[in-house]
Amino acid sequence: MFNRSTFVLITAAIIVVIGGLWLLEVNNNDNSMTEQPEPNQQKIIELPDPSSEDPISLEEAIAERRSIRNYREGEISRSELSRLLWAAQGITGEGDKRAAPSAGATYPLELYIAAEGVEGLEPGLYRYRPEGHLLEMVLSGSLSNELQDAALGQTFVGQGSLNLIIAADYQRTTGRYDERGERYVHMEVGHAGQNIYLQAENLGLGTVAVGAFDDSRVKELLDLPDDQDPLYIMPVGRR
Ligand SMILES: Cc1cc2nc3c(=O)[nH]c(=O)nc-3n(C[C@H](O)[C@H](O)[C@H](O)COP(=O)(O)O)c2cc1C
Repeated sequence: MFNRSTFVLITAAIIVVIGGLWLLEVNNNDNSMTEQPEPNQQKIIELPDPSSEDPISLEEAIAERRSIRNYREGEISRSELSRLLWAAQGITGEGDKRAAPSAGATYPLELYIAAEGVEGLEPGLYRYRPEGHLLEMVLSGSLSNELQDAALGQTFVGQGSLNLIIAADYQRTTGRYDERGERYVHMEVGHAGQNIYLQAENLGLGTVAVGAFDDSRVKELLDLPDDQDPLYIMPVGRR
């Protein structure tokens, strides 16, 4: 029915169309679902550059990583906090791509720091702003004891120098992928959590991923927006 050159032309056209559709999906940085409200400038705290000169090897970090539930007293430095946050959700590439992969670059995760003993930070809740690598103060005052209660009394939650709380806005991902987006969000929390574990190992700090807590108590305690749900609490402290 077709001669050879028509067949080659049609095949080439199909490849171009499929390739174009794929590129559109990969590069689709329509940020309408991930757009962030502007940070409140009065509550902004700048973080030190997260770059490091003394890394252990990746293999060492993976091999040595363990969940640590005993912490010594002592502050976490701002530089250490900066590097933990960068590893979890820092911006690392063009198009504001981040340290952990995200389905369709929809970035549903929000990272909060309940600071207890962090150099130069008053106890309180801070939100990490990947754009600009900044902290924004959300609440003032210690949250450790109440967070420990909300985490079913797990004592180490109350003993860390800080707790990282990873929350998610599911709609950012389900808006593009419907119901399947839910599983993508859960996968993504795992990626970010593992990066925190490995960076903690690299810094000689201890952490543990805590999934057992009362969702609504944590949400209320942190005064999270309605569209954000807490998924992990990760206490961090000196070993
Ligand atoms: C999804 C998930 C939820 C977890 N929740 C808790 C928790 O609530 N409390 C806790 O002490 N450890 C928790 N852990 C840590 C595991 O107990 C720990 O990873 C496991 O014992 C293996 O030890 P390792 O991390 O030292 O290799 C959780 C881990 C995962 C992956």
